Amino acid sequence: MKITELEKIEIDLLLQGIFLRYGYDFSEYSYASIKRRLSNRIEHENLSHFSELLPKVLHNEEFFNHFLSDLSVGVTEFFRNPSFFLYIRERIIPILKSYPFIKIWHAGCSTGEEAYSMAIVLAEEQFYERAHVYATDFNSRSLEIAREGIYALPSIQDAKENYLQSGGKNQFEHYYHSKYKSVKFHNSIKKNIIFSYHNLVTDSSFGEMNMIVCHNVLIYFNRNLQNKVLKLFQNSLCFGGFLCLGDKETIEYSDVSKQFELISKKNKIYKKITN
Ligand SMILES: C[S@@+](CC[C@H](N)C(=O)[O-])C[C@H]1O[C@@H](n2cnc3c(N)ncnc32)[C@H](O)[C@@H]1O
Repeated sequence: MKITELEKIEIDLLLQGIFLRYGYDFSEYSYASIKRRLSNRIEHENLSHFSELLPKVLHNEEFFNHFLSDLSVGVTEFFRNPSFFLYIRERIIPILKSYPFIKIWHAGCSTGEEAYSMAIVLAEEQFYERAHVYATDFNSRSLEIAREGIYALPSIQDAKENYLQSGGKNQFEHYYHSKYKSVKFHNSIKKNIIFSYHNLVTDSSFGEMNMIVCHNVLIYFNRNLQNKVLKLFQNSLCFGGFLCLGDKETIEYSDVSKQFELISKKNKIYKKITN
């Protein structure tokens, strides 16, 4: 998506305003992705220029919250990329089973589908009792949905096929009960997932993790911010821990590339090999 110098000035002013007023730092998100979101928003608001959003964002907190959701792009689904979950099930969990207890961090978990999917895989592999799944995001609204664990029935119907392709050993229905047009996950699946607020741009590292899953988040960041966040992951992983990125993301060309070994090219899984 092409961007003019004037649009860049408008975007910079808007992002600076957001940072000063609310503390959210989007200054190192890629212009292309920000522009795409802003274009949708100004069309929706019947405005002509990005800069017209500034007074609204500054003076109307409710508007800002919608705007934050625009910028944070929460698209997700259960067992998104089934081949990744199959690989985790068949190849990574057997390695992790040598630890008495493991910690997994889902960074940028959106509304929680990815974390519930992981919990189901761990439960089916008889490893969930020895695991904690930390799932974080900087969008508090998404985290509220994730904590509730209630999802619309149509999204679940779509997930069934992915669940089976990921090596699922039951019927997906086994893990939730349905009421009207929604489903709620059983506590046996929810119990070891800890949802919490964490901003990858401004917050610090998250403890000694055995695996970090950060799918489809780095694509929104510019090279510099990707590098910074990858260093945060490097510091948050224990030796031998696994870093899992989205299919369009890579650690190649970053400052940490030499500290990791590529384990699965198809599934973008890396192993930390030096401290
Ligand atoms: C496209 S979703 C990916 C969700 C899930 N990981 C998946 O692949 O299905 C991107 C998520 O990253 C989150 N995100 C974006 N910037 C972030 C930041 N600075 N800190 C934490 N989360 C962030 C967004 O709020 C959104 O929920």
